[in-house]
Amino acid sequence: MSLRLGDVAPDFEADTTKGQIHFHQWLGDSWGLLFSHPADFTPVCTTELGRTALLKGEFEKRNVKVIAVSVDDLESHNRWVPDINEVNDTDVNFPIIADGDRTVATLYDMIHPNASEKATVRSVFVIGPDKKIKLTLTYPASTGRNFNEILRVIDSLQLTANYQVATPADWKDGEDVIVVPAVSTEDAQKKFTKGLTIVKPYLRYTPQPNK
Ligand code: BEZ
Repeated sequence: MSLRLGDVAPDFEADTTKGQIHFHQWLGDSWGLLFSHPADFTPVCTTELGRTALLKGEFEKRNVKVIAVSVDDLESHNRWVPDINEVNDTDVNFPIIADGDRTVATLYDMIHPNASEKATVRSVFVIGPDKKIKLTLTYPASTGRNFNEILRVIDSLQLTANYQVATPADWKDGEDVIVVPAVSTEDAQKKFTKGLTIVKPYLRYTPQPNK
């Protein structure tokens, strides 16, 4: 069965371009971003891994450890990384898992046989410091992911983990947020001292509490 939000992210040991890792241990107290790509030496994947490397500072700011995976072997990953660096003028600074035996791909249900028998689809898992899955996304091989969206959703997850708020459509860090329905308007008025805008009794905005 596929993994669902709130499930514990399966633990595993794997060889990576940065050495052997024990996944949960490697995550430590950080957030995690585990994402799969279909294959090494493919064009869309080359742009995605480069973009991820270029966003190193953004992931670090959010205390997120990034790790990629495909079913290619370590020798292939190591030959491909210089291409990614050259094309994107960057330095791939995160580990890429060599998953030739499909251990990780199977645990995380990353192979969708009706799309491809052999390659992983573009799966995304955001994992919280409690090792639970907070977000899943699945893209086809032909569509490169929007890493700004991945950062945006991490901002939302980290905010909503700490305050009784949710984020509206197209929300970006710094914009007003929504008070969750579980908080009464009377309590919201006491709790959200930056102010409350009541559009409907169930739709109440407040400035982002951690800004
Ligand atoms: C790519 O990464 O470019 C790619 C991989 C598999 C199928 C199509 C595109």
